[in-house]
Amino acid sequence: MRILSGIQPSGTLHLGNYFGMMQPAIALQEKGEAFYFIADYHSMTSLFDAEQRRRNTLDVALDFLACGLDPKKAVFFRQSDVPEVTELAWILSTLTPMSLLEKCTSYKDKVAKGIPVNHGLFAYPVLMAADILIYDSHIVPVGQDQKQHVEVTRDIAIKFNEAYGETFVIPEPQIRGETAKVPGLDGEKMSKSYGNTLEIFGEEKPLRKKVMGILMDSRTPVEPKPDADKNLALQLLKLVAPAEVSADYENRLRAGGLGYGDLKKGLFEHYWNHFAEARKKRAELAAHLDYVNGVMADGATKARTLAQTVLKRARKASGLE
Ligand code: ADP
Ligand code: TRP
Repeated sequence: MRILSGIQPSGTLHLGNYFGMMQPAIALQEKGEAFYFIADYHSMTSLFDAEQRRRNTLDVALDFLACGLDPKKAVFFRQSDVPEVTELAWILSTLTPMSLLEKCTSYKDKVAKGIPVNHGLFAYPVLMAADILIYDSHIVPVGQDQKQHVEVTRDIAIKFNEAYGETFVIPEPQIRGETAKVPGLDGEKMSKSYGNTLEIFGEEKPLRKKVMGILMDSRTPVEPKPDADKNLALQLLKLVAPAEVSADYENRLRAGGLGYGDLKKGLFEHYWNHFAEARKKRAELAAHLDYVNGVMADGATKARTLAQTVLKRARKASGLE
């Protein structure tokens, strides 16, 4: 079973990305043949700073490896190191009805927000279909927001198979549950566009300040809090502390006697310790970029070999060869 997913190199890793996407992806490397890539071609639809793209791409590579992606188990590569995917995107685009792309909500949302849109953004799902189909992927783990794109991929693959004969594997999306929605420091969904993030690899002092700055209500420490489970600091603590520790905090909050300051201090300590090992590993990796580049080059070779085989199949089926 081949599992494939991509992540755009679009910003600094935060708790939401980590628990929502990175950790589940890393766990899946044990379950099948995982292919994970950094979607740098896709980032070109919305990021127009070359240096920033280079930096972000390296950051994602460091983040993934530091958090436990094992290059012996997963094939890890940069999307643009397999340029064959753009040829397949062209071939697929000729079988993609305009109406299929016109109903994609992530595109429509951007138009509605008045963001200037380009052809790349409109054609984004076709490139994503090529990403998925060129590796004969069976399972595509994604967040809810990307489900529609995987459905578009299925439609395109079925159309190709009908027009030119059985060529592509029809992939299945694997949607991560609602529990994967990590709240941000203001209680809304954590997202870099809302400025409410807690970064995984930042400086200690400003991060401590962010945590201590989480707004709480004005109830005194001794007051019992029957609604303890709705407390934002506690919800975040549950992600980073052992279950018995967060249960203890929750009981003390519920019964009364635990002050919000102490709760936030506890949250910071556990959050900081949770990522201590990854932080150390990331620093080591950053000091050995030749190793990181080697991993990516090796992943690219493996991915490209497979991509060339599948592209050839599609070229033959469609009469290009
Ligand atoms: P952001 O919302 O910060 O811009 P992205 O849209 O780049 O993050 O998301 C990258 C990945 O992280 C996606 O797979 C997305 O589903 C996941 N993700 C982002 N924020 C959260 C969150 N608060 N909870 C769970 N998953 C998230
Ligand atoms: N569009 C995805 C996102 O923004 C990233 C992506 C690109 C992807 N190609 C993919 C995800 C193929 C899964 C499969 O999160």
